[in-house]
Amino acid sequence: MKITSQFLREKFLNFFKDRGHAIIQSASLIPENDPSVLFTTAGMHPLIPYLLGQRHPKGTRLTDVQKCVRTGDIEEVGDDSHLTFFEMLGNWSLGDYFNHESIKWSYEFLTSKEYLGLDVNRISVTVFAGDEDAPRDEDSARVWQECGIPAERIFYLPKKNNWWIAGTTGPCGPDTEIFWDTGKPACGPNCDPSCDCGKYLEIWNNVFMQFNRQADGTYLPLAQRNVDTGMGLERTVCVLNGLKSVYDIDLFQQSLAKIQELSGKVYGSDSKTTKAMRIIADHVRTATFLLGDPVGVVPSNVDQGYVLRRLIRRAVRMANSLEMPKGSIVEIAKVYIEVYKDVYTELVQNAYKIIEELIREEEKFTKTLIAGEKEFFKVISHIPGNVVPGGTAFKLYDTFGFPVEMTQELAQENGYTVDLEGFKKKFAEHQAKSHAGSEQRFKGGMAEGGGQETTNLHTATHLLQAALRRVLGDEVKQKGSNITPERLRFDFSFGRPMTAEEIAATEALVNEAIGRNLEITCREMSVEEARAEGAIGLFGDRYGEVVKVYTMGDFSKEICGGPHANNTGELGVFKITKEQSSSSGVRRIKAELRK
Ligand code: ALA
Repeated sequence: MKITSQFLREKFLNFFKDRGHAIIQSASLIPENDPSVLFTTAGMHPLIPYLLGQRHPKGTRLTDVQKCVRTGDIEEVGDDSHLTFFEMLGNWSLGDYFNHESIKWSYEFLTSKEYLGLDVNRISVTVFAGDEDAPRDEDSARVWQECGIPAERIFYLPKKNNWWIAGTTGPCGPDTEIFWDTGKPACGPNCDPSCDCGKYLEIWNNVFMQFNRQADGTYLPLAQRNVDTGMGLERTVCVLNGLKSVYDIDLFQQSLAKIQELSGKVYGSDSKTTKAMRIIADHVRTATFLLGDPVGVVPSNVDQGYVLRRLIRRAVRMANSLEMPKGSIVEIAKVYIEVYKDVYTELVQNAYKIIEELIREEEKFTKTLIAGEKEFFKVISHIPGNVVPGGTAFKLYDTFGFPVEMTQELAQENGYTVDLEGFKKKFAEHQAKSHAGSEQRFKGGMAEGGGQETTNLHTATHLLQAALRRVLGDEVKQKGSNITPERLRFDFSFGRPMTAEEIAATEALVNEAIGRNLEITCREMSVEEARAEGAIGLFGDRYGEVVKVYTMGDFSKEICGGPHANNTGELGVFKITKEQSSSSGVRRIKAELRK
């Protein structure tokens, strides 16, 4: 392999570092305090506040490798190109340089002998064709030509192809995309990079973010013009090495070897085996990163935990289909911890949790799997036709822990379909209030996640942590936080359930802090200063040298990106609605602010 994953990561970061960019650490896979999406799906996601105009502590030029999870195409996993976890290389201008520098640097990085040294004749690009929202991007096309890309390899495409936005609202703009010619002959006279015949494969996307899309579909100019670029690591390594599938790259070789060893079967021997092995390789990798994330998720029936559960259970099913022994999933996770140990140290730090949760989930699932499959076959032997009723799918979900997608898979394997509408109806009937928001979360854009309720709950989260440390001691440390407009959820390290007295005392302390109308101030300082001032929070490299510290009177001092209320008096009445276990050694509190 000419270009390895680590080679590409290092070359990319160093290239941009040499051009004035600060290297920032990957943010968590779980967006903190952003209820609008379940996972970080692109490099831009954690940077949205800065794209909207907030000052980033590390300056206006940034570069990073961001961990991302996208499960929208989970059904496609197992083919040559789809993955649920990937790393995205990016460089950022926050109101600094714009399209000229961005394009010139991309070109230099790709073609210079010092960096990737690619053959310029195999590079094509697309630019925005223009419409009523933004003009035809002739300026970018001109820069590409100056670099040496001839006009016949510059394609103008519409918004559908050359415009980038995360979700439906928020920062966005026209982009220019860079394609690698695989050498396949053109499929016809109209073959261009928008064609999916396999001749052109995208390797890099440079977005010129200058608009903020509103809920009504209009575009307002952003306070500053930004650049957001994204290069998918796995995909680019695959394409540039002329490999057929992303699973052929270095990052998957050890896990696939392990899967072959454990199953005694050969990868590539037939399409069903290959697909099952790829699904296991993909899903276990994603599960390992979700469990090992600094914020972290554990399997559950809601939100991120549900996706995680689904990934693990599907991997276990596939492992069973390959007749792999019990515990195989954990063995594969261990391979990934080793593969990524130098790049994502959190996997090593959280190795115990990863392993423990995977064992637990596999055990839980194995117990219900046998009973659930039995139920499934019992039901289908009785139903006329080939549609599994929604009520059956719900029972399998509710009683046997079958994610509906798995029932659909089982159905499909046996020539049936599932009445999904019927399932959804049953599901909705049984839904608890707290769960009802989760579908809504996919609808809004990222920038919309805010709102005063969310901000106030975020402030309340700081007060809660400060109160918990007073009541339970300094061993209390944040393990996760998630906020919707209705409630906060706070996970923290603590070894036993809280007593009713402790819960009441915590609540009272928070309400007292609210009642004292404490002023909330924010200052930027170095991590060392913050530490010296006694600020709590996630210290360490993920925040870089300069951090924001939010102080709430004499009650709380915490490193945090904000935003927050101006005064604790704005919050209302704080009420803890739940205290429960989150995972081993971690408790979870849910709380609300009432008027
Ligand atoms: N945000 C852009 C993408 O994800 C770069 O493709």
